[in-house]
Amino acid sequence: MAKFHSLKIADVSKETADCVSVAFDVPSLLKEEYKFIQGQYLTLKLFVKGEELRRSYSVCSGVNEGELRVAIKRVKDGKGSNFVYDNFKAGQEVEVMTPMGSFHSQMDPSHKKNYVLFAGGSGITPMLSIVKTVLQSEQNSSLILFYGNLNEESTIFKKQLDELAEKNSSRFKLHYIFEKPTSQIEELYKGMLVKEKVKTHIDKHIVLSSDNEFFICGPKPMMDNVRETLEENKIDKSRIHVEYFTSSSIDKEEKKSSIEKIISKVTVVQYGMETTFDLASDKKAILDAAIEHGVDAPFACKGAVCATCRGKVIEGKVHMDKNFALTDAEVAEGFILTCQSHPITPVVKVDYDV
Ligand code: FES
Repeated sequence: MAKFHSLKIADVSKETADCVSVAFDVPSLLKEEYKFIQGQYLTLKLFVKGEELRRSYSVCSGVNEGELRVAIKRVKDGKGSNFVYDNFKAGQEVEVMTPMGSFHSQMDPSHKKNYVLFAGGSGITPMLSIVKTVLQSEQNSSLILFYGNLNEESTIFKKQLDELAEKNSSRFKLHYIFEKPTSQIEELYKGMLVKEKVKTHIDKHIVLSSDNEFFICGPKPMMDNVRETLEENKIDKSRIHVEYFTSSSIDKEEKKSSIEKIISKVTVVQYGMETTFDLASDKKAILDAAIEHGVDAPFACKGAVCATCRGKVIEGKVHMDKNFALTDAEVAEGFILTCQSHPITPVVKVDYDV
C-alpha cells in the first residue's frame, strides 16, 4: 500500500544545465517499504506557494545500488519540477511516497534476454535504473539503448551511460540520436526518432526474437513512433512496455462514453476499513469522492498516467474515462484507476489494499 513518509535529502547533484538528481536517506526502519523495482517512480508531496502539489519522478538507481535517487528536469511552466530544481538542498525533509509503477519486467538470473530501450530526454531516468539492474542481475542478458536528445550537452547521465557501455561493451550497446548535434555524426543518428528512422534502427541493430523485451519512455510523439513501428513489426504487445510522464502530453480529446446516469452506493476499502457513500455516475471520480469522505486514498497525477490511485473492483462495475497506466491484463483482473472511474452499477466496492 502506497504511503508517504518524510525523508531527508541526502544529495542534490546537477546532471545537466536544467536537470538535477536527488538522493534520499532512507532510515533502516523504512528500508523494506522503499525497496523498489527497476523502472518504478516516487511521488513527492510539494508545497508551492501554499498549494499542495504531487509530482512523480522515476528512480534512476539500480535496485542493488543501495541508493534511492530520482532525476528532475526543469520544464517550461512546470510548477513542481521548477520548484524542486530551484529549492531542494541536502538536509531538507520531503514527503515521499513509497515506490510505485509497473514499467518493468521480471528479473531472473537465468534469463537470456535482449532488452531494447528507446528513451527521449528525461525519459532516460527509469531506463538508467533498468540498465544498471539488468547488468547486475542478469549476467546472460544484453541491452541496447537508443537515446534521443537535442545535443550532447543536454544529454542527461551521458557520462554514466558512456562508462557503463565501455565497461560492459559485450552486453550493453548505446546509440545516441541528436536533433542538433554539435559535432559531425552519421545521418541515421541525427534528427527526430521518426518512424522510418526507428524502422532502420530496428533492421540494423536488432534481431527480432521472442527474447526481446522493449521499453519506451520519452516525449509522446517519439513514444508513438516507436510503439507503432514495433507493432507494425508484429511484436507482441505484452513485450512492449511504455511509460508516460504526464497526462498533458497525451491527447486530451478523449470521448466521454454515454453512461447511464445513476446514483450508486460506493464502498472503498483501505487499511481494512470500509467507507461508504453515494456517488452519481456522471459526477466526481471515485478517488475524489473517497478523499472528500475522509479516505486517505493514494494519488499523484490524477491524469490516468501514474497508477498511484490503483484499486480493484471487488463488486459491481465502473467506467474508466482514460487509462494510460494499467495493462490489459490488469484491467481484466478488475484493477482500475480510481481517479478516472465512475460507478455504473447500483453497488460498487473498490479495494485499495490489494
Ligand atoms: S492518480 Fe495517477 S493515474 Fe490516477
